[in-house]
Amino acid sequence: MRALLRWPRQRDDAHQEGRATVARTSRLSGLRSLAPAERRAAVAAELGIAPDDLGAFLDGGIDLTHADRMVEHAIGTIGIPVGVATNLIVDGREVLVPMATEEPSVIAAASNVARMARPLGGFTTTTTGPLMQAQVQLLDVADVHAARARILERETEVLELANAQDPRLVEHGGGARRVDVRIIHGRHATHLVVHLVVDVRDAMGANAVNTMAEATAPLLASIAEGRHLLRILTNKADLRLARARVRIRPDDIGGPEVVANMLEAGALAHDDPYRAATHNKGIMNGVTAVVLATGNDTRAVEAGAHAHAARDGQYRSLSTWERDADGNLAATLELPMPVGLVGGATRSHPAAQAAVRMLEVTTADELARIVVSVGLAQNIGAVRALSAEGIQRGHMGLHARNVAVSAGATADEVDALAARIVAAGAVRADVAERELAELRAGR
Ligand code: MEV
Repeated sequence: MRALLRWPRQRDDAHQEGRATVARTSRLSGLRSLAPAERRAAVAAELGIAPDDLGAFLDGGIDLTHADRMVEHAIGTIGIPVGVATNLIVDGREVLVPMATEEPSVIAAASNVARMARPLGGFTTTTTGPLMQAQVQLLDVADVHAARARILERETEVLELANAQDPRLVEHGGGARRVDVRIIHGRHATHLVVHLVVDVRDAMGANAVNTMAEATAPLLASIAEGRHLLRILTNKADLRLARARVRIRPDDIGGPEVVANMLEAGALAHDDPYRAATHNKGIMNGVTAVVLATGNDTRAVEAGAHAHAARDGQYRSLSTWERDADGNLAATLELPMPVGLVGGATRSHPAAQAAVRMLEVTTADELARIVVSVGLAQNIGAVRALSAEGIQRGHMGLHARNVAVSAGATADEVDALAARIVAAGAVRADVAERELAELRAGR
């Protein structure tokens, strides 16, 4: 299947810049049997770019000098594997997705589900637009209801002051849009909290909204006739949502019984916070891997996701599972998605830049759509395995390779030793050491 659609704005941008465009297909079968350099070449060929354009992945992308500029007291870097998730179609566009993760099976599972989803068109997404919110906490206010009214009366003045902090954002069509004032009746106090709602365009937005919060806080405090304390964004970014939905035919995912079991599993994740936490962890396996690969703030996305999961007062699954009128599995996922393409590590980290190039996205909105689609694919992959053969069969094969390496196997011995410990039915360090000795003794 060759879907050549792009999000309209991106097609225009790419066209104007004369860049090589869109992955012709994300259906790169056989990647598994290639060496990493050959995989990079295959991905680059599909994207119409030079393999060197993905070269930053080779050595982690940064050296110690670069690391030293990024954080305090730098002493080194830590390597995380980056793999490519294949088969994904998002809104009709073929996408090859870089995923940074230390966990085996994750990339394979996302790719498998993306393949199963292709016959019914892949993933369809929507977003709410890039609205982030800053909070200003106001204290010692005698009349919170009247203060709320006074602040709203002067909304234009507050917004003008906020926007004066970031003329470039305003030039790019963003800026502070609205003021909300919340009165929260707490256990020990009544809180007055002002929200600045800001369109941050292609930024993650933390810097922009924090600056605006700090600049407007004195004015807000004087209007409220109180004092200000906290001035910081909220990571419950529930005005910046990304949603994905997908349908998969029962026969493409293991049959009607597997689908029925998946619905049972999904129902438990809705009702039971203990299961919901694990179910959502599976979603975040996909989400965090793409967010990390693109140099975005994984903790911000994770905090937003878990806050969203608890939005009705009980922690629940972030995804929904149904059967559509034709009996297909119909799954959806909605998440706050505060990711950006400008600023931060996304701009300065060469590997993150290579990841963005690979994804062929030119807006934060496009990135958000892909991230949420990968999260949904990941979730379906995990719950499908749990509802059919169980997670350990697929997982253990890959885990066995790690255990084999830890036991001291050389590159030539890893596959053979992994096969032996899987066959022994115990993927454990002691078994690996015993089997390695046997292997070396020729037994
Ligand atoms: C493991 O990293 C993720 C799973 O536990 C997710 C799930 O149980 O749905 C397999």
